[in-house]
Amino acid sequence: MYDIHAHILPGIDDGPRNSTESLEMVFEASRCGTDVLVATPHMRDVNEKRSVEYVTSSLNLLQHDIANYGVDIEIKIGMENHLNPDSPAMFKKGKSLTINRTNFALIELPFFGHPKYIDDVLLELQHDGLIPVLAHPERIELIQQDPTRLAYFIDKGMISQVTAGSLIGQFGQDVKSFTEQLIKNDLVHVIASDCHRPVGRRAPNITVGYQAAVRLIGHSRAKKLVCDNPESIINGVRLSDNS
Ligand SMILES: [Fe+2]
Repeated sequence: MYDIHAHILPGIDDGPRNSTESLEMVFEASRCGTDVLVATPHMRDVNEKRSVEYVTSSLNLLQHDIANYGVDIEIKIGMENHLNPDSPAMFKKGKSLTINRTNFALIELPFFGHPKYIDDVLLELQHDGLIPVLAHPERIELIQQDPTRLAYFIDKGMISQVTAGSLIGQFGQDVKSFTEQLIKNDLVHVIASDCHRPVGRRAPNITVGYQAAVRLIGHSRAKKLVCDNPESIINGVRLSDNS
């Protein structure tokens, strides 16, 4: 399976606190069936506390450790980019990163409120050749209050990524039901872990999300959400379809 949203690099954001915890997350991800994982530290933390260069060297160190321990998992570079009016400039300056250097960009909309710039900035990113991958829309107030907004963004060619934990109630019953509704209504392309810790609520386990999706939409459509679609994104190729 392919996990395109993971806070797995140590000491950058609210993910693992040190390299030991980071490696424990890698072991757990591999044990849960993840073959390729994209490290997506928060853009704001990277630029305020560290740097893109730091992310690159931290990723190299982790890959070195993975090779030493013989874990069969690949880690790619990425970033979780908070949407704001500066987002297009941040990508142009190289301070925001896409998923594995493709045109797919993991974008986090504001959790609360309806800032007026949202549509314009998303469309500007698309105009610049990027494909926004909207992180956990099920946890974003704008989408919770009006799911047709998500349908509109998807219609414009954007991608929708829900969190595995949302499907098993780790963000509450309302978020669970809403995520199920989005999946049943074909408004989800990818399930990712958005992991922050080796164990517990924010563990790197997308299998739980896959199993929940199987119960909702069946095996072959659920497989697209954890295998086919995220694999296409990591390889920078068009998704085969929206289901
Ligand atoms: Fe995240």
